[in-house]
Amino acid sequence: MLCLGIETSCDETALALVEDGVLVASVLASQAKMHALFGGVVPELASREHYRYVGPLFDELMARSGKTAAAIDLVAVARGPGLLGSLLVGVAFAKGLALGLGARFLGVNHLHAHLLAAGLEGELSFPALGVLVSGGHTHLCRMESPWKFVDIGRTLDDAAGEAFDKLGKILGLPYPAGRAIDALAREGVADPGLFPRPYLDNDNLDFSFSGLKTAAAAHVARNPVLSPPLSGPLCEKAESGAADNMQTLRDCCASFSLAVVDTLCAKARRALDRNSDLKTLVLAGGVAANSLLRQRMGDLMRERGGTACIPPAHLCTDNAAMIAYAGWLLGREGFSHPLSMETIPRGRKVPDDMVRQATPGRRVS
Ligand code: KG4
Ligand code: ZN
Repeated sequence: MLCLGIETSCDETALALVEDGVLVASVLASQAKMHALFGGVVPELASREHYRYVGPLFDELMARSGKTAAAIDLVAVARGPGLLGSLLVGVAFAKGLALGLGARFLGVNHLHAHLLAAGLEGELSFPALGVLVSGGHTHLCRMESPWKFVDIGRTLDDAAGEAFDKLGKILGLPYPAGRAIDALAREGVADPGLFPRPYLDNDNLDFSFSGLKTAAAAHVARNPVLSPPLSGPLCEKAESGAADNMQTLRDCCASFSLAVVDTLCAKARRALDRNSDLKTLVLAGGVAANSLLRQRMGDLMRERGGTACIPPAHLCTDNAAMIAYAGWLLGREGFSHPLSMETIPRGRKVPDDMVRQATPGRRVS
C-alpha cells in the first residue's frame, strides 16, 4: 500500500510517501526563518505559505519518488491539533487529491503521528509509554495500539518546548530556540541548584513549566551579562570579557536544560512505576531532539531493562514521514475517513471518528 502523508499543522509544509511501512521520499519547506522575524509563528502568514508551497512540493515529491500519482492508495493528512488556517490548506488539498485519484482518505492526529514516527526505524511494540514533548504539547500517554492512546499526564500551562523558547526570548536567541539552547548547553557546565524542578512535589503525572520562565528571567536579571544583545549574535563582538560571558550563557543553558530534562524524566519514571506492563518508552516531538533528554530517557529504560524508542532528530520535529507512516499503519487496519471529516484546531480534542472497513478498498464514499 502506497500512502501519501501531508503535514501543514504549523510552520512546515511537508509531504512524504510511505510504501509498505518504508519511507520512499519526503519533501519539506520550512517557514521558520520568516516567523523568526516576528518572534513566533504568525498564523495568517503560515497558511498563505502552505497554500503557496503545497502544490509545487507535491510535484517535487512525485518526481523524486519515481511514483505516479495514480499509484497512491491512501491520502493521509494531519487534521489537528494545529493552527486552523494552516490545517485547512493541507486537509483541503488532501481531500481534493483523494477525490481526484479515487484514493482512500484519512485524517491523522498530529500528536499520535509524532509518537508513531519511531516505528519508521523498527516496528514498535505495544503497549508503550508515549512521552510527547513539543512546542505546543507535553503529554504522557499509554499507547495501547497505533490507534488507541490514553492520556495519563499533560502540562497544565507551558509545554516543554515553550519553556526552551521562552528562555531563548529572554536571552535574545532566535525563535524557536530549543536547538540553539541545546547546542550551547552541550558546551556548558550545569548547576543542578540553579533552576527548580517544577511541579514534582505531588502525586500526579502532570507538568507545569511556566514557573521556569520566571526563574530564568530572575536569573538573567541577577546576571546582566546574560541580557541581550550580549547573548545574541553580538556576543562575539563584545569588547571585553566576551569569552567569560559566552561561558556564563552556556552554563545557564546547561542548567536550564538539566532542570527540564530532570522534570520530564521524574514523571516518566513515575508513570512507568505505576504502569508496570509498559516495557517500552517512545520519545517524540521537537524537544525529543534534545541531546540530554535522549541520553537520559535511554538511561532510564536501560536501568529498568526496557527499551527506549527515540527517532532520529529529523523525525522528531514536524515532518510528513510521520503522517505518511501513521496513515499507512491505520490504513493497513482498514481505517479511513469520509470526505466530510472535520479539521481540529489547537485546544480541541481530536475525535476518535475513523471508519473501519473489513476489507480495505481504495475509496470510502
Ligand atoms: O514538534 P515540533 O517541531 O513542533 C510542534 O510544536 O508541534 O516542536 C518544536 C519545539 C520548539 O519549541 C523547539 O524549540 C523545540 O521543539 N526543540 C528543541 C530542540 N529542537 C527543537 N528543544 C530542545 N532541544 C532541542 N534540540
Ligand atoms: Zn508537532
